[in-house]
Amino acid sequence: MKISHFQPLLLLLASSLFFLPALRAVDFKYCNKSGYDFGNVSRVEISPNPIEPADYELSITVSGYASKSIDGGSIEVYAKSENITDLLRRSPISPIKAGTKFEFPLSEVPKDILEGEYKYVIALLDDNVGDPEKPILCVDFDLPTSAPTLVSSA
Ligand SMILES: *[C@@H]1O[C@H](CO)[C@@H](O)[C@H](O)[C@H]1NC(C)=O
Ligand SMILES: *[C@@H]1O[C@H](CO)[C@@H](O)[C@H](O)[C@H]1NC(C)=O
Ligand SMILES: *[C@@H]1O[C@H](CO)[C@@H](O)[C@H](O)[C@H]1NC(C)=O
Repeated sequence: MKISHFQPLLLLLASSLFFLPALRAVDFKYCNKSGYDFGNVSRVEISPNPIEPADYELSITVSGYASKSIDGGSIEVYAKSENITDLLRRSPISPIKAGTKFEFPLSEVPKDILEGEYKYVIALLDDNVGDPEKPILCVDFDLPTSAPTLVSSA
């Protein structure tokens, strides 16, 4: 019977619809504009989305495909404006094999509001690559806020 085949998917859908805040995709760009030799990113999802003024942290999931392998490294989340870079989270990652898909779930990332224009940046760093300033994969995106934050001038 075909029905039973679809049940896990239905359950998954039901649980994400009813028991978890929606994880929704955001538009992202590669930090270096053109992409990276290491691999590519297919989706960046954020929860909650949109982010309300009362929310103080978010979950981010980055999914993609690794063309190259990585033995060990870390993933960093920054908020970055013209003059300020706040490191919000840094986590070690498990090795990834070349030719496989990857998914990084990043929970409890602080919400950071910077003055002026700013982006959230997610950078993948390889322990075996000397320059920590040079991520092997990096994307950035705007935080999906529900409305501009109005600052009372009264
Ligand atoms: C982006 O990074 C890749 C290496 O991963 C490099 O080949 C490419 O030239 C870079 N693009 C820019 C605009 O720096
Ligand atoms: C990522 O790269 C793989 C392998 O080259 C390709 O099949 C896939 O379509 C790419 N995905 C995106 C989102 O670019
Ligand atoms: C960043 O710093 C420069 C130089 O101090 C200043 O001119 C500029 O207004 C600053 N930008 C923001 C968004 O604060």
